Amino acid sequence: MTSTPVDLNPAEATRVLAGVLAPLVAQGAIVRRPQATAWAERHQTDRAARAVLTGLRARHDGAPLVLRLGPRRMVVVTEPGHVRRLLEESPEPFTPASKEKVGALRHFQPDGVLISSTADRRYRRPFNETALRTELPVHDDGAAFTDAVRHGTAELARRLRGSGGLDAATFTDVWWGIVLQVVLGAGARADRELVDLLDALRRDANWSWFHPRDERRRTELASRIESYLAAPEPGTLAAAAHAAGAATAPGQVPHWLFAFDAAGAATLRALAVVSARPEVRARLLAEVAAPGPGTALLPYARACVLESLRLWPTTLVVLRDSTAPTVWGERTLPAGTGFAVVSAFFHRDPARLGHADAFVPEAWLDGRNADDWGLVPFSGGPVSCPGRNVVLLVTSHLLAHLAAHDLRVARGRYLAEDPLPATMDHLGLRFGLGEAAADRP
Ligand code: HEM
Repeated sequence: MTSTPVDLNPAEATRVLAGVLAPLVAQGAIVRRPQATAWAERHQTDRAARAVLTGLRARHDGAPLVLRLGPRRMVVVTEPGHVRRLLEESPEPFTPASKEKVGALRHFQPDGVLISSTADRRYRRPFNETALRTELPVHDDGAAFTDAVRHGTAELARRLRGSGGLDAATFTDVWWGIVLQVVLGAGARADRELVDLLDALRRDANWSWFHPRDERRRTELASRIESYLAAPEPGTLAAAAHAAGAATAPGQVPHWLFAFDAAGAATLRALAVVSARPEVRARLLAEVAAPGPGTALLPYARACVLESLRLWPTTLVVLRDSTAPTVWGERTLPAGTGFAVVSAFFHRDPARLGHADAFVPEAWLDGRNADDWGLVPFSGGPVSCPGRNVVLLVTSHLLAHLAAHDLRVARGRYLAEDPLPATMDHLGLRFGLGEAAADRP
């Protein structure tokens, strides 16, 4: 492996731009564009992106790949050691508040910790860790969260019985009910105006600096969230936020709501694999049938969600900007250089992972996936996702509940066996009911 960054020649830079970065931008970094995700699946864009980066890694011996995007210098890394450096040395000298991310997230969460200055991060990061109980596999309010999941799955079961099937739009609608209840309370469950506001702002955010900020909508979203935070329902993240710091909470909650969208996508993809593989479903059902005391941890269901995130990462690219000149091998890159970690490339790299294209939840349980800086579904280091355990709790319970229904995924033959497709458009997923459909709510 070479640590000295190499400047890509124009042909190589074009391959990275067209084959790796453009499809990611086209799909929408902040909210997915359904036509673009359908196109990405049809063309299996992640497979092509992996081929480009694998070729360039071999040709340049793992050196960080430097390309110019107008005035901007962007470095794409291809070695886990370089990912490790970027993530461990965050937020200084590698800040997560990259130009692109600030441009995007300022549309709806200008005070979110992810795009905060290092000074503001000093209190916003601990606030997030306290409210989300980052270190606890099961949040103190875990029972209330799994109640919200139970309520949502009962609703899904009703719709399933009514229509005999499930599509991504129905799933997403019910999913938002669960998210609103977990974050803001049962009183917010039906507040789709809030979701519509957030969605509109996220669509603007996809355009980053190229779109003006919609102050009217942003203020409306903020005041709606604040109305829930002012008198938070017990057993919600809003209540945990209120307790962790009432003044800091309003700036952080928009990120939580937005980030739950990715958790829904990961669950839906995991459900697709579960529905195509009876042995995975049987194991999930066995785990729920024998819960321990308290709110069940469901390690296998969690591992299924993690495996979905490995195979089809929802954070398509992890970005950093350097805040100071940084020395890489024999070169010094100036402050303001952008760095990109393309998750799909690292997550399925056969050079490191024997199970690169296979569905192997066990690898999250037996240590195979431990200590691998290339596996970054929730990022890593001091800026890693503080919501990881809340996500895994909610999604594992939802997946286990949904596994109780005898669902059959359309195009299931692509998912029944390995290797799994490189790109899966979760928005295009559809499920029917098998003959032995369980009626469990
Ligand atoms: C499947 C769902 C999710 C995934 C895959 C995910 C992934 C990530 C990743 C990759 C980052 C770091 C980005 C970077 O290094 O630049 C991050 C940051 C963050 N996530 Fe999540 N996330 C998810 C859901 C959530 C949820 C539901 C919450 C809150 C309830 C949350 C809260 C946060 C916060 C506050 C940060 C910023 C951390 C910081 O800047 O220090 N995430 N997440």
